[in-house]
Amino acid sequence: MSVIILGIETSCDETAVAVVADGNRILANLIASQIELHAQFGGVVPEVASRRHLETINLLLDRALEEAGVSWSQIDGVAVTQGPGLLGSLLVGVMTAKALAFALGVPLLAVNHLEAHIYANLLVAPDLPFPLLCLVVSGGHTDLFFLPRRGEYRLLGRTRDDAAGEAFDKVARAMGLGYPGGPAIERAAAGGNPAAVPLPRAYLEEGSYDFSFSGLKTAVVNYLARAEREGTGVALPDLAASFQQAVVEMLVEKVLRAAEAVRPASIALAGGVAANRALRRELLSRAEPAGFRVNVPPPALCTDNAAMVACAGYYRYLRGETAPMTLNAVANLEVEQAAWS
Ligand code: KG4
Ligand code: ZN
Repeated sequence: MSVIILGIETSCDETAVAVVADGNRILANLIASQIELHAQFGGVVPEVASRRHLETINLLLDRALEEAGVSWSQIDGVAVTQGPGLLGSLLVGVMTAKALAFALGVPLLAVNHLEAHIYANLLVAPDLPFPLLCLVVSGGHTDLFFLPRRGEYRLLGRTRDDAAGEAFDKVARAMGLGYPGGPAIERAAAGGNPAAVPLPRAYLEEGSYDFSFSGLKTAVVNYLARAEREGTGVALPDLAASFQQAVVEMLVEKVLRAAEAVRPASIALAGGVAANRALRRELLSRAEPAGFRVNVPPPALCTDNAAMVACAGYYRYLRGETAPMTLNAVANLEVEQAAWS
């Protein structure tokens, strides 16, 4: 008998619902993106996001069950992102999940959004060996975690200023490439020379696994301002490729330094920025020859989705970690925190 988990994700600007069997068989994985709605503002507008989640979620639930070919009575548990994220957006998912779990009489499974990003790896590689070193790079986070075993998290380092995705988004905006910035920079960089524009890399103190992207971002902004002042043109593909290369080098260098220190059984990438092909390529080409097994989820499972939430919820289901009906959304939920404490 399979265990079928319904996953709900509404932490930011994607309304997502998925149905996953046994933590690794995706029966349905639907995402209603709000990108076009927010693009006119150059970023996510929280009030607009929560209203759109509310309008979309019920329709998406019906469609996900239909696509999965399962009935409501076959759902064994309802997993939902409890945080971190935008409070108004999270609330739509949490309230929907509570109502469903109550009505169906099945466990409510509270999932941390970063935990879900990490579990995207187990969704595609359930046998991924632990201890695991996982870099979570998203719009809000750049966190390097060491997981001695499933469900146990040690934060080795994190960004001291901008998240990697945030740096992509801000630099893309300064370059006039639009929102979201990561994919736009990756596209622009495709025809560029990554060595064309010299840009700084910040490695911080010896032994630190923290990151810093604000100096790099400022260097790009200054470069653009100088080019405008002096009337010299900017080769956008070269600048995009050089910026992307600097981010990738800083990320991969820190992951490898940490891997040498903690000797994990495998290394994984997670979060929206992990969809970046240059990052995936660089990590694979440097970590595998050094003897590390590397796993990277397919790009569509790196960016926000509900299949990863259902997968993380499945492991909580197996451990009997049911959340109470008093569950509330927590905008700044830490991954080490028990999901409902
Ligand atoms: O994980 P995610 O979908 O949402 C958050 O939890 O934040 O990550 C979104 C971030 C955005 O900053 C976006 O620009 C970035 O991931 N991103 C990328 C790529 N695709 C998305 N960054 C670089 N290259 C990409 N291909
Ligand atoms: Zn995310």
